Amino acid sequence: MDKKAVGLSDTLKGKTAPKSFTKNPIKGTKFTIAISSAKGGVGKSTFATNFALALKFIGSKVGILDADIYGPSLPKMMSINEKPKSEDGKSMTPITQYGIQCMSIGFLVGKDTPMIWRGPMIISAIKTFTQKVLWSDLDFIIVDMPPGTGDTQLTFAQEIKVDGAIIVSTPQEIALLDVKRGINMFDKLKVPILGLVDNMSFFETDEGKKYNIFGEGGVEKLAVYYKKEFLGKIPINIDLRIAADTGKPLVEKNPDHKISKIFIEIAKKIKGSFL
Ligand SMILES: Nc1ncnc2c1ncn2[C@@H]1O[C@H](COP(=O)(O)OP(=O)(O)OP(=O)(O)O)[C@@H](O)[C@H]1O
Ligand SMILES: [Mg+2]
Repeated sequence: MDKKAVGLSDTLKGKTAPKSFTKNPIKGTKFTIAISSAKGGVGKSTFATNFALALKFIGSKVGILDADIYGPSLPKMMSINEKPKSEDGKSMTPITQYGIQCMSIGFLVGKDTPMIWRGPMIISAIKTFTQKVLWSDLDFIIVDMPPGTGDTQLTFAQEIKVDGAIIVSTPQEIALLDVKRGINMFDKLKVPILGLVDNMSFFETDEGKKYNIFGEGGVEKLAVYYKKEFLGKIPINIDLRIAADTGKPLVEKNPDHKISKIFIEIAKKIKGSFL
């Protein structure tokens, strides 16, 4: 009797084969860097804006893409209240503020409008921001990611050429758990991790006494464990918070501030590894 090999049909094989994605570079920039953390509220947007301005401070041309569709921070953190213009009705010109080209869903909708969108709409918004925005002559686009490991992260990692990710975390145990998930996600999706940042690292009084409010050293230990670079510690600082809330990031407002200097040091490290 004829023995027929049992196996997947060609059609099924095609469906189950590992998918290969075309990673499109964002036009108008040399490099794209994602600022990420699996946990919310750890300071990604604060880091992204100050880091972008630190890169500008050391002579780079920079853009910020706010990829947080549900909770955009860029309009507030960079004091932007205008809508982007479109010459042809198809593409959009980013809004330049403090010498940084910026784009956010928050420029297009009212500031109190909730984005009640499902995944496919998010993916389509990300594609518009990466393909239809006329970013011009940039060295770096800094992408401020939403928290988590969802549609936005996946769209960036699979379809857009991301040259590296910086993971921000607080040193708290519960945040560190999410950092592990974040590291594993980027490793799996083959996005190089440029390093880890320990934000809200400690609080220092005027007398110089330090309090490790969220614990100590956890982010650095994780960096060592996963063999990733540790980029630095950013303390809890009231000037950094006020600057964010009043729409002028601290590095722009006062580049000589001791906290601004930490961002500038990190920017030098990252720039040095690309240019
Ligand atoms: N080092 C810091 N010192 C003081 N305040 C900080 C520091 N880092 C962030 N903050 C403040 O903490 C809050 C959360 O920060 P931010 O919005 O940057 O976090 P996020 O990770 O982007 O949050 P989300 O996950 O919602 O996008 C903000 O009010 C910000 O001003
Ligand atoms: Mg944010």
